[in-house]
Amino acid sequence: MVTTNPVPRFPAGFLWGVSTSAHQIEGSAGTRERSVWDAFTDRPGRVSDGSTAAVACDHCRRYREDVALLAGLGVGAYRFSVSWPRVDSPGGLDFYDRLTDELCAAGVRPVPTLFHWDLPLGLDWRERDTAARFAAYAARVADRLGDRVSTWITLNEPAEHTLLGHALGVHAPGERLLFDALPVAHHQLLAHGLAVRALRAAGATGIGIANSHGPTWPASDDPTDREAAGFYDVLLNRMFADPLLLGRYPDGIGGLMPGDVAADLAVIAEPLDFYGVNYYAPTRVGAPAGERQFGAELPFSVRRIEGRPVTDSGWPVVPEALTELLTGFRARYGDRLPPVLITENGCAYDGLDDQARIAYLDGHLRALHEALAAGVDVRGYFVWSLLDNFEWAEGYTRRFGLVHVDFATQRRTPKASYGWFRDVLRAQA
Ligand code: BGC
Repeated sequence: MVTTNPVPRFPAGFLWGVSTSAHQIEGSAGTRERSVWDAFTDRPGRVSDGSTAAVACDHCRRYREDVALLAGLGVGAYRFSVSWPRVDSPGGLDFYDRLTDELCAAGVRPVPTLFHWDLPLGLDWRERDTAARFAAYAARVADRLGDRVSTWITLNEPAEHTLLGHALGVHAPGERLLFDALPVAHHQLLAHGLAVRALRAAGATGIGIANSHGPTWPASDDPTDREAAGFYDVLLNRMFADPLLLGRYPDGIGGLMPGDVAADLAVIAEPLDFYGVNYYAPTRVGAPAGERQFGAELPFSVRRIEGRPVTDSGWPVVPEALTELLTGFRARYGDRLPPVLITENGCAYDGLDDQARIAYLDGHLRALHEALAAGVDVRGYFVWSLLDNFEWAEGYTRRFGLVHVDFATQRRTPKASYGWFRDVLRAQA
């Protein structure tokens, strides 16, 4: 339920933004090299509505209209991703050059993410060399955009990319390696660390990463449930945050990783200017329940969170878990935790009069404010997403946008939540 109270006041200088990613909105597939996602969506049965992102939101051709929507919203920043396979194609950086100029002219800070899952086809995160190639690509982007970009994000959600793409095979590249996917996690973390160094060598400042996090709630107090939930928490939360912030893997994980892990950890733990958190929902986890989940026998089982509204993705709406997550992070990492940006938060709901999205965002902003009041140094908040878009294996069946996109005509129509967020930003100004 949306309360009539205004959203509480955030500190002066708090960064308000929205996020998107290249593969989900850009289209113009023929004008760039192919990515693992192009190959994945070509295989029948991989995307629920049989669609591809070949056109998506046609953003490459309509970016001026989309920047005007950002300006109308009044956001201070726009988080987009740079497509590595586009940069690999002739003149591929030109598009990001134009987009960056357009954003700057509109007074919107460009916040590029260098990898949001669309790996160039032919590269493989199981190969260590991919990490070095990523750093070289990051330097090329910084050389071109660095004069106008002051906030950089290396990777988006290496945990989800490892889990969904390489362990369970429901995202590109569609590998079902289960725990043999761990090198994919390590090589992404190494890629991140090498890219931080390469970006700084190119003169870049303001560098962070965007990781997905959420509280893991044990299904009961039973020790087997608690143990299973603890293991899930390691996989989702700690396996990525601990190496980045503490310079070590959680117990039992480091020995499973390839290469000279101790030397790599020194690279992975390069100090960050901010830590990006993508938050959607908590997860309730118990001991294995004797059934296969995600087509596999796993050492835990994901359970339903009862008594909560759910989004069109079936995810429970639990705003206070964002406060719990952030205060828990602060308790765990202390002074090793740099300032936090919420780099994604949002929900899938159909319809233009999207009161449920307004309620979701309103609740999460209040929860975020509570985390600030409890002493967590949060400096910004980005809604996922500006536009309805290609929602990976769900195709066009999940609408996360503040702006509705008619995929037949490419017509953009701001939803009720767009007007609501614009008014929140005006009131905060
Ligand atoms: C990803 C986005 C995705 C969103 C909603 C995040 O995990 O970074 O690309 O669209 O969640 O599923």
